[in-house]
Amino acid sequence: MTQEQINELNNKLQGVNTIEILKIVSELFYNKITFASSLSYEDQVITHLIAEEKLPIQIFTLDTGRLFPETYELIDRTYARYQIPIQIYFPEVESVEQMVNTEGINLFYDSIDKRKLCCKIRKIKPLARALKNSKAWITGLRHEQAVTRYNMQIVEWDTMHQLIKVNPLINWTEKEIVDFVKKHNIPYNKLHDKNFPSIGCQPCTRAVTKGEDIRSGRWWWENPDQKECGLHKS
Ligand code: ADX
Ligand code: SF4
Repeated sequence: MTQEQINELNNKLQGVNTIEILKIVSELFYNKITFASSLSYEDQVITHLIAEEKLPIQIFTLDTGRLFPETYELIDRTYARYQIPIQIYFPEVESVEQMVNTEGINLFYDSIDKRKLCCKIRKIKPLARALKNSKAWITGLRHEQAVTRYNMQIVEWDTMHQLIKVNPLINWTEKEIVDFVKKHNIPYNKLHDKNFPSIGCQPCTRAVTKGEDIRSGRWWWENPDQKECGLHKS
């Protein structure tokens, strides 16, 4: 797709609701579109819509090996509710073994470089594998989540992975997400009720206090503008 075609598609999708966006892209990239779910509030909204509308979109999650027990439990509850599979991708065994045996099991606290190495091995490389046969991928990114996400579009060219990225919830507010989850009784991560608005790996996520930024509990020991794991560089 050229940048011009992407712009055209974005114009066409302005003001279109999320179900319609998902329908349009699932037809446009038929059988070549996949959804990356971290089982967050946002991602559960997308899973719900895919399941309810029976859209031909595969769902996958990256199991870094360091997720919260609550997240694993939610994978099961989601299957129980919707009966659609979530494909699980693990990091490469040898790379994880080499990393933790040379750098330590909790290397991410030592330096930003080591944290990025861990994210690369546990998330970015498996993501590349998960996206290998796709022309487009869907995420639950929202503008409100971070300054790095302010300028994102509904449809973008992902230069890092060389395919189209679709962000159908980009304009949703946190309240809209929570209200939708509650209204449709969508299964969600129990940690959200314990002041975890944004959930990633267990050692790199903590609860936030009222009024704090929603991503302040992620890699909390790092400078705020470095808080991207690399999945969403464009
Ligand atoms: S991160 O880059 O800081 O980890 P964040 O947790 O905000 O990302 O999630 C943003 C989007 O990235 C999610 O809506 C989802 O599409 C994708 N994503 C993040 N983590 C994972 C994961 N472990 N597995 C699959 N997709 C993920
Ligand atoms: Fe490793 Fe933490 Fe990144 Fe998870 S979030 S892959 S544990 S550095």
